Amino acid sequence: MRKKIVAGNWKMNNDLKATQLLIENLKGLTLASDVSVMVAPTFVNLTAALDTAATTPIEVIAQNMHFADSGAYTGEISADMLTAVGIKTVILGHSERRSYFGETDAILEKKTKQAIDKGLQVMFCFGEELADRKSGNHFNVVEHQLKNALFSLPETAWSQIILAYEPVWAIGTGETASAEQAQEMHHFIRKTIAAAFSESIAQEVSILYGGSVKPANAVEIFSKPDVDGGLIGGAALVATDFAAIVNAFN
Ligand code: PGA
Repeated sequence: MRKKIVAGNWKMNNDLKATQLLIENLKGLTLASDVSVMVAPTFVNLTAALDTAATTPIEVIAQNMHFADSGAYTGEISADMLTAVGIKTVILGHSERRSYFGETDAILEKKTKQAIDKGLQVMFCFGEELADRKSGNHFNVVEHQLKNALFSLPETAWSQIILAYEPVWAIGTGETASAEQAQEMHHFIRKTIAAAFSESIAQEVSILYGGSVKPANAVEIFSKPDVDGGLIGGAALVATDFAAIVNAFN
């Protein structure tokens, strides 16, 4: 079902103590009850984060996983390892995974299939680079990212998918897509999914915006009809800022 979601992607930040402290600080703040709140600490801190968040509505999610069941993949983490510790949602396809770690659409298709098969919910990230936006190719790039990684999924898989549109030029740069640009792309994404699958799947899927969302711009971005929330990087590392973003829905 289409839900309001605000997720914090902590990336490679926060050691054990900082992880526990940030969640403790969030506990002390009022978080809107109609918004699903998620935080994604690093792998080594997932168990501690799950313990600290246990009595709260905050869902602890993972930042990545490998597509294989198990085996000789040094440094990697499998879907079963995540579910075994109590993780229910995994971020896949973040632009930093794509650009620094060579994750292609084909790899992401495998990862997504594996996560779905293992019962995980996938927060699938995608978005164009600055050059694509400047050349007017952004719709085409986004359509291909979705098509290449997600369109081979069965219709039933869509109940386990959250989309996160993150224009690469807006991630960590302080540059945000305008609320109109976000709405325009989110509407395009819904239309693309409706054409490939069905109108009801397109209407049910939550589409988050990510890229320099801050307390100051969240209200406007979240007010758009096709924006169902945000994937937050930098501002998710400060409890009061993250809470303000969670509470930004009208
Ligand atoms: P940012 O990161 O909010 O720091 O731009 C967003 C993200 O990478 O998901």
